[in-house]
Amino acid sequence: MNRSNLPAWEKADPSVHASDPRAVTFVENFGIRPIPAVGPIVTESICSAPSRGFEQLWKAIEPETRTRANDVHLPLVAAYAERLCAAYPAANKEVVLVAAILHDTGWAHVDETRIISEGFSGNWRKAAIRFEHESEGCIVARRVLPGLGYAADFIEQVCDIIDGHDTRQVAYSLEDALVRDSDRLWRFDRAGIMASSSWFGMPVSDYVDRLDREILPELITEAAYEMATADLTRAKALLRTDTIR
Ligand SMILES: [Fe+2]
Ligand SMILES: [Fe+2]
Repeated sequence: MNRSNLPAWEKADPSVHASDPRAVTFVENFGIRPIPAVGPIVTESICSAPSRGFEQLWKAIEPETRTRANDVHLPLVAAYAERLCAAYPAANKEVVLVAAILHDTGWAHVDETRIISEGFSGNWRKAAIRFEHESEGCIVARRVLPGLGYAADFIEQVCDIIDGHDTRQVAYSLEDALVRDSDRLWRFDRAGIMASSSWFGMPVSDYVDRLDREILPELITEAAYEMATADLTRAKALLRTDTIR
């Protein structure tokens, strides 16, 4: 089997949850895909745009950042989320940022030995460990957010995004869509390429091919698509993936 013939990852099935009223409303409100940006689309390297604020929240989840490279993954996802909020000013930025910061904290509360063995092999999109990290992430959100002054309905909006962020294939709101795209965007930065290719156990050149073929088309927003395309072009050149394969 040559590299270009590697079997594709099992495709996300958008029909699952598509009849949920929240998904239906979202499609009615945002029918054009990818969703056109209203504000600026910035495609420079994410290194030039760290996220800001939320110091108390970051401190509250410091233990959860020590698992599965969350101390790199979560700040990058938050940075991409902040950029996407500028492109989609109608979104509730606080909900997006808090959900982005917290979305993968649940990895710290599952069986660590199963993260790679189940979460990055076979049909990884449906691995039980992925459902577990989502529900554990909601438990973290409900534990840390009340003490930081967040109201109950805000916390439930955040948990609605965390719950299903990996395993549900359709978005329920603009805020949900921005977190989902931010979570995918990190894969296109060189830090995400290094971590994810290692977790999936595949050469970087194979991994960037998959990003191009399989992950880019999953992005929901125009801004994320433009940012991912620019990141991927930069990463391929920097890592010499046309040659080193
Ligand atoms: Fe996740
Ligand atoms: Fe994530």
